Amino acid sequence: MPKISIIGAGSVGSTTAFLTAIKNLADLVLVDIVEGLPQGIALDILEATAGLGVNLRIVGSNSYEETKNSDIIVVTAGVPRKPGMSREDLVEINTKIVADVAKRSSVKSPNAIFIVITNPLDSMCYVVKQVTGFGRKRIIGQAGILDTLRMKTFIAQKLNVDAGSIEAQVLGSHGDEMVPIISKTEISGKPVGDVLSKDVIGEIVERTKNGGAEIVNLLKTGSAYFAPASAVTLMTEAIFKNTKQVFPCSVYLEGEYGLKDLFIGVPVRLGNGGAEEIVELDLTLRERNALLESADVIRATQEVAKNFLARHSA
Ligand code: APR
Repeated sequence: MPKISIIGAGSVGSTTAFLTAIKNLADLVLVDIVEGLPQGIALDILEATAGLGVNLRIVGSNSYEETKNSDIIVVTAGVPRKPGMSREDLVEINTKIVADVAKRSSVKSPNAIFIVITNPLDSMCYVVKQVTGFGRKRIIGQAGILDTLRMKTFIAQKLNVDAGSIEAQVLGSHGDEMVPIISKTEISGKPVGDVLSKDVIGEIVERTKNGGAEIVNLLKTGSAYFAPASAVTLMTEAIFKNTKQVFPCSVYLEGEYGLKDLFIGVPVRLGNGGAEEIVELDLTLRERNALLESADVIRATQEVAKNFLARHSA
């Protein structure tokens, strides 16, 4: 049985663990700094699966010993932005946490594939790369799948169709500058522009960009976790089952889409090897420019993370 270690047993981590378990995908290790939390979540999930015919090893721990030889490390550890905290403060705090997590877990699992969830996503992937030195196929950020699931949901609601009949891709950064690729969005093979008006498409794009905030506003405390966990599970399933499906994920570019030395959301083929191939879509000029703008925003945040690492690595 393959093995996944999830670092950070909060909302996204525990929901990812539960989904992984009920899909019988992999043995699971949950790690968190809060004493009792990963152990409690692991036990609860183990008990939940007892009646579901699932037979996995599911444990929780406050140390990394149990994570040894994991095939996939999912990083959700971090803190959310709190009132009075600047974006820059958040980048530095989460850089410190993710660097520590990446170092400890990569030592125990030198062949693992990292799936990063902690925000600001693209920069946190960069931190994992800097700290572990792993090749780019083995560091993948989850964001675009979540944004794409949201866009599919909104289109499906408008048209009263199954979300499974919709092809869509949301690329770029995981934030206000994300880039929904309308030119490649199809419903049962028909271009979205033939099925929905420009105004409605514009509304859907806006709602997708605000998808995370919409949930935060409704929940009042905390942020989304079911859809993020579902997105992670789509990735782990594609990797373990070697499906070669193409999903929008944050990966390190080395010239693709005219960009290099940053992580950004692009279509990626997932298989046993991780991010096996970056698929270069033929984008419209507008989409291409939007992707470049998105990259500028990521670079600014990445610089903060990079400087923080440089200051603290001596
Ligand atoms: N090592 C291990 N776990 C840690 C560490 C650390 N150094 N620092 C924090 N954690 C744990 C916290 O104790 C908490 O249980 O990470 C967990 C984060 O969980 P939540 O606060 O519930 O956050 P969640 O909603 O799961 O989101 C996690 O995903 O989508 C992103 O923006 C989101 O960055 C956030 C991440």
